[in-house]
Amino acid sequence: MPSFVVPNGNDNPQEFEGKMTFYVILCAVIAAMGGLMFGYDIGISGGVTSMDDFLEKFFPVVYIRKHQVKENNYCKYDNQGLQLFTSSLYLAALVSSFFASKTCSRFGRKRTMQAASVFFLAGVVLNAAAQDLAMLIIGRILLGVGVGFGNQAIPLFLSEIAPVKYRGGLNILFQLLVTIGILIANIVNYYTTNFHPSGWRLSLGFAGVPAIILFVGSLIITETPTSLVERQRPDEGLKMLKKIRGSENVDREFDEIVNACEAARRITSPFRNLMKRSSRPQLVIAILMQVFQQFTGINAIMFYAPVLFQTMGFKNDGSLLSAVITGSVNVLSTVVSVFLVDRVGRKALLLQACVQMLASQIAIGIILQLFLKTSNNLSPHLAIVVVILVCLYVASFAWSWGPLGWLIPSETFPLETRTAGFFFAVSSNMLFTFLIAQAFLSMMCHMRAGIFFFFAAWIVIMGLFTVFLIPETKNVPIDEMMERVWKKHWYWKNYMDADAEQKDNNIENGVSSS
Ligand code: BGC
Repeated sequence: MPSFVVPNGNDNPQEFEGKMTFYVILCAVIAAMGGLMFGYDIGISGGVTSMDDFLEKFFPVVYIRKHQVKENNYCKYDNQGLQLFTSSLYLAALVSSFFASKTCSRFGRKRTMQAASVFFLAGVVLNAAAQDLAMLIIGRILLGVGVGFGNQAIPLFLSEIAPVKYRGGLNILFQLLVTIGILIANIVNYYTTNFHPSGWRLSLGFAGVPAIILFVGSLIITETPTSLVERQRPDEGLKMLKKIRGSENVDREFDEIVNACEAARRITSPFRNLMKRSSRPQLVIAILMQVFQQFTGINAIMFYAPVLFQTMGFKNDGSLLSAVITGSVNVLSTVVSVFLVDRVGRKALLLQACVQMLASQIAIGIILQLFLKTSNNLSPHLAIVVVILVCLYVASFAWSWGPLGWLIPSETFPLETRTAGFFFAVSSNMLFTFLIAQAFLSMMCHMRAGIFFFFAAWIVIMGLFTVFLIPETKNVPIDEMMERVWKKHWYWKNYMDADAEQKDNNIENGVSSS
């Protein structure tokens, strides 16, 4: 999930000394527990919302509908309250990530992460002990605040402590932990579904484990040198930099941090800067990468895989087992992207994935359209074919739009708008995740198999967008993006020329541009 490139103004890995010290690894692993927290949440709700004990207690209408033999296959889970259970988390994360971006600067990354784990734990307690729907939803909202704080602070933290030459790898480590979190949640659900009547409480309660590790761990880990300098504590920043790099020879890197902080301080309103014409290309890419990432339909699978598989006729554990399989494919394919992203490039991965996702979505749509009517089950053979198609779809997402949806927005902004620009990426992700989570079950009820053609149509749009408008950023140092990428792109260069700069300056100085 989110990756973040820190404004340090230098991307030549040779120039800074700094190895991967044990302390950096320890800090990274502890911080990445936030990725597990987030992933666990993504993966857990689908299994829980398909458990009978849970439905009977909180959503009796859905429970009755699910067991009515004559009930329409596609509609049995269509319930706004049930969807709100899943989606409320993302709305809370959307709102709280704005506040988290402020606390990150004012109180530091470490404190923001600690706050994340505390909110998260409070949410876990309410969820695991829930007696009514209100407790359940308030718990989800607190989890969402935890996710918002965590997702804003942790990727930033990881990138700031990483030695420059390992920064890309550490970025994708966060997404990898998200996928591992999803997988663990699927496995937990697979077992707890057989514990009656409180298996769902165990599922929701286990989310506390990564949160406790993050909280206890955050007492041990360091604050980042950048954050210390940013908050006017340069001596501590220098000391900490020496400690995490395992070297006394850190002066150049420290100077870069100090310069970057000074440059950032001079920009009084990064958000206003972002509205300039010359920032338009990066802003459009950052927002649309997230919108498209969600309109691949991935979270229809991640949140509702067990529900979806039950819709096709799998029994409870059969559907959870299938979710475990797709979760494993998700993890393994994310590892593939770690190795390929800097070799074959971003565009190649995005385009290959569009073709594979398109083919699998259309095939699933056709099978469901032809063979899954309102009240039958798919034959076992066809159901297995659908699971294989879902795996092909998830694999291609996981080595492309999953990690790159975060990586590309984080590496294309120039220094002065990077933090504010990345905030737009995080919040767009949360907003569209919320929309999909809230709407998917109703869409499935109304559009039936057509839902897969709906996502397929989006994939065509994003494929065209990739071909024409996403520039290749492989191996380009982040501070050379402007010259080597934007100013050379056939379309985006129109926003980068001298005229554009002049227009920006005119707007800033209040001069009419007519
Ligand atoms: C997306 C999540 C998604 C996850 C699946 C992330 O990049 O932002 O919405 O659930 O990938 O692995």
